Amino acid sequence: MNCFPSFFRKKEDSHTRNTPEIDEEISNIQNVKVKLFTYKELKAVTDDFCESNKIGEGGFGSVYKGRLKGGKIAAIKVLSAESRQGVREFLTEINVISEIEHENLVKLYGCCLQNSQRILVYNYLENNSLAQTLLGANRSNIQFNWQTRYRICIGVGKGLAFLHEEVRPYIVHRDIKASNILLDRDLTPKISDFGLAKLIPDNATHVSTRVAGTLGYLAPEYAIGGRLTRKADIYSFGVLVVEIVSGRCNTNTRLPPEEQYLLERTWELYERKELVGLVDTSLNGDFDAEEACRFLKIGLLCTQDNPKRRPSMSTIVKMLTGEMGVDEKNIAKPALISDFMDLKVRGPPRSSGTENTSYNVTSSSDTRENSTLSLGASTFGTLTVSPVYDQSL
Ligand SMILES: Nc1ncnc2c1ncn2[C@@H]1O[C@H](COP(=O)(O)OP(=O)(O)OP(=O)(O)O)[C@@H](O)[C@H]1O
Ligand SMILES: [Mg+2]
Repeated sequence: MNCFPSFFRKKEDSHTRNTPEIDEEISNIQNVKVKLFTYKELKAVTDDFCESNKIGEGGFGSVYKGRLKGGKIAAIKVLSAESRQGVREFLTEINVISEIEHENLVKLYGCCLQNSQRILVYNYLENNSLAQTLLGANRSNIQFNWQTRYRICIGVGKGLAFLHEEVRPYIVHRDIKASNILLDRDLTPKISDFGLAKLIPDNATHVSTRVAGTLGYLAPEYAIGGRLTRKADIYSFGVLVVEIVSGRCNTNTRLPPEEQYLLERTWELYERKELVGLVDTSLNGDFDAEEACRFLKIGLLCTQDNPKRRPSMSTIVKMLTGEMGVDEKNIAKPALISDFMDLKVRGPPRSSGTENTSYNVTSSSDTRENSTLSLGASTFGTLTVSPVYDQSL
């Protein structure tokens, strides 16, 4: 189905043809290993980026589904205007991302660079994201039994350990969260959007004020001080593990006040030695209690205030599988951004019926102008912090 009359399409075609300068720039860049798609080709396979082929929208732009030549189904991410990085910088980053292959990482097939367009072409995952299928208000009919949750946590852990410890130079994801964990036909988890935060040019006006990340998953030292290390991802991973075990979102303002913040609740139940009470009731008690409580303790360990107390990803994977014990001596109260900033969270209207819509969060202690952050589905906030890479951790 075509969404627009042909006279519009014709005009757009002439606009999206490459200028000779872009072609020359691409041909001058050596070692371009990534597959380059033409805009025309992607336009054709998405029926002119038709609404009916749109599968989602995030902080970087819209995502469409399309069948590529040869039959592969792809998720085609059209980056928003702010992502119009120069050809060279863009291709350099994309080259790195496209070389990375791991069972638990979404595969980048290629990209399209034509005039101002920047489009990424990924492997399409059939079972959507954890945000929609496990945590969303309209949960899917996928049964996330304990074994599946166990496999998902370990798979995501392995994917992240690969980015942190095997890829050279290592990659800090910066936005580990349920909507960036996609599931294939067999519910194998795949981390999406790694390497993407770097594609956003720092000088793009409103982008420079963004901390890449989603409040609720953001390590306080990164959210507040802009200090970016692998340990910021590990904090987010810890939040994700607790969400997977409990089957609920990190923040839910529709719950009684003492239950709204998942990490706070986890800590409270840990202190009372009642962690098992946090496990998703939809499992109807059908889970390995020792394993589930171990996962929750690992979640607490990952979210410690002092980044040095958070173990490395490869250690965490060993703890998850039981190959290594969880040293409870290192578990103290987790770091909560609300403790640092005296955040006031204003939830969505009660009628919205979803835990994943955005919340406006303002900090009474933050004197900066743009101190609004978003929780949940809308990814990026506008806290005025530029990340400072810290290689020490
Ligand atoms: N490779 C893919 N296969 C299948 N669906 C995908 C794929 N990539 C993205 N999607 C769908 O598109 C939606 C939007 O993805 P997108 O990454 O743009 O936004 P997001 O993950 O919600 O936020 P963010 O911009 O922070 O990553 C996802 O939630 C998912 O449903
Ligand atoms: Mg995403």
